[in-house]
Amino acid sequence: MPAAGQWRRAAVAIAITVALVGLLVLWRPSGLYPWLKAAHVIAIIAWMAGMLYLPRLFVYHCDAEPGSKQSETFKIMERRLLTVIINPAMVASWVLGLWLAWDGGWYAAPWLQTKVALVLLLSALHGLFARWVRLFAADRNPHPQKFYRIINEVPTILLIGIVILAVVKPF
Ligand code: HEM
Repeated sequence: MPAAGQWRRAAVAIAITVALVGLLVLWRPSGLYPWLKAAHVIAIIAWMAGMLYLPRLFVYHCDAEPGSKQSETFKIMERRLLTVIINPAMVASWVLGLWLAWDGGWYAAPWLQTKVALVLLLSALHGLFARWVRLFAADRNPHPQKFYRIINEVPTILLIGIVILAVVKPF
């Protein structure tokens, strides 16, 4: 359970973010769109870096004896990667992506609707990763190493589809 201080810091960070986003929405400076897009791409790079690395950690973690020093180190790496990088980057990717869709009037575009469907799959996978981090932390990993080797490829396949839809906009 996070300590009271951590909750307070999280609440302050959320309040500052909401206030800044509110200010930008009300103010709407001209030339904001490309900056939003740059921030969106930065957030996506951070999200994807984590989504590609975390299943690799699961693969190596399978080789570590439960209770060993190595296993405990993997638990810390997995938890930090999830909470410090992957979770905030996913929230930022969604907020900025939806903002771009609204600001650019892309809502009805079929490429965007297909892209959002793929991003929903990516987000569901993110949820599964979070569940496996918790199970590894309790030494209750439910899957063999081969399973994580296969799962490791899924974010890459989704990434390729999403980027082609966003950049090429084929329909
Ligand atoms: C979370 C839901 C998301 C929404 C609603 C969304 C929406 C958008 C919108 C509206 C644009 C602007 C398109 C333009 O101005 O041409 C954009 C750009 C982009 N998005 Fe997303 N996006 C999301 C997530 C993602 C994810 C997960 C990725 C990659 C894995 C991604 C990759 C990109 C890229 C590379 C661009 C730049 C395209 C360009 O400038 O040609 N997006 N996104």
